[in-house]
Amino acid sequence: MDVVIEGKALLDSGLTSCCIGISDGRIAKIAKTISIADRRYDLSNLLLLPAGIDLHVHFREPGMTHKEDFNTGSMSAVVGGTTFVMDMPNTLPATRSLSDLKEKIETASGKCYADFGLAALLDSRTNAESLAGRATALKMYVGETTGGLGVRQEEISGLLGKAAAAKLPLMVHAEHTVPLPEIEETDLDGHDRHRSDGYEHMAAKAVCGNKPQEMRLHLLHVTTARVLKIARESGSTAEITPHHLLLDKSMKLGTWGKVNPPLRSKSTRLKLWEALASGLGDTVGSDHSPHTIAEKEEDFDAAPSGMPGAETRMPLMLQAVAERRLDIAQLSRYCCRRPAEIIGVPKGQLKEGFDADIIAVDLRTGAKISADKLHSKCGWSAFDGMRAIFPRAVFLRGEKVSEAGEIVGERAGRYFGGGGSG
Ligand code: NCD
Ligand code: ZN
Repeated sequence: MDVVIEGKALLDSGLTSCCIGISDGRIAKIAKTISIADRRYDLSNLLLLPAGIDLHVHFREPGMTHKEDFNTGSMSAVVGGTTFVMDMPNTLPATRSLSDLKEKIETASGKCYADFGLAALLDSRTNAESLAGRATALKMYVGETTGGLGVRQEEISGLLGKAAAAKLPLMVHAEHTVPLPEIEETDLDGHDRHRSDGYEHMAAKAVCGNKPQEMRLHLLHVTTARVLKIARESGSTAEITPHHLLLDKSMKLGTWGKVNPPLRSKSTRLKLWEALASGLGDTVGSDHSPHTIAEKEEDFDAAPSGMPGAETRMPLMLQAVAERRLDIAQLSRYCCRRPAEIIGVPKGQLKEGFDADIIAVDLRTGAKISADKLHSKCGWSAFDGMRAIFPRAVFLRGEKVSEAGEIVGERAGRYFGGGGSG
């Protein structure tokens, strides 16, 4: 074996003290003891979990690298225990054509600490067929948000057909199908009333109701239990974000809490937790959307929507496990296994044949999130001051990339395209 990591690992059978033997970056053997190894990590006092998979990050490169880039965005993900990220296409230019995609792969390769996938934009100008087997997924915006890339209601069904024909998973931002009224927003309550969950339900129905049977449709940042049910009933999958679970509009967050879809009421948020704990929804994704402090300091109505979250996603969910709001198998299903299955990458489980993407954690050592210790270029966090459990060590394909909150490895992130088999 090249590497052996010893600890209490989360296997299908539950937490088990064992050795994970790694060869060529993959888990080659899991056994009580493995005696021969070039390198050995004795982490027997720690839990070993699959590293996180985050299907929803905006690393802003190309075009908005004053907010983030693949270097800082991936540092942020990796230090927070996530070794695979999927970047969204609302960059400048938008990632729509095969040449946009190739350029982004080139930019990110050599610059990214995490393995990565790329979602290409699906709208009326997209040649989806040319992206088949090349993009990791497609992304469609139903409603207007950062980037101005929304599609019209009458286009939805044709575009779903295109995605199905290209056999790529489709990620959808489903927020509203009708134009929103022109009203000025002055606070989080106004933002929520302007883009209310009634619109989100309509948009989810318009998308899920037109889903071709065989396609993989993943609804992003779902804010209500009702939309999670719409997704499940249509054979689609759904993402929940940590911010819609942990933050709501009654909190005095101002523009720092301005995000699309908006933070909802406390009662909607608590129902989302219940839904998650009961197994509704499929993934927890960050929707890491960094904007600069200067932009967020503008008047409420003018400030852009979005907040960073790649680095805090796993730590906040681990804290939820420590507080018994979720069990560890559920965390691993939502944050690791299901996201990997949806895009078809051999990650997200501690099993022979899977990539050796592993985090070591101690559930007894929580700490308060401090925005100035995080690695995103944007320099702020709406979760500042909340308790979280950061991983002690993070391995990407058997190599240690992060330890005790800092990067210790290489920028070895690889691109995973093709859309997998799901
Ligand atoms: C995202 C961004 O800033 O790119 N903003 C957000 O509020 N979530 C875009 C998006 O997904 O809506
Ligand atoms: Zn979105």
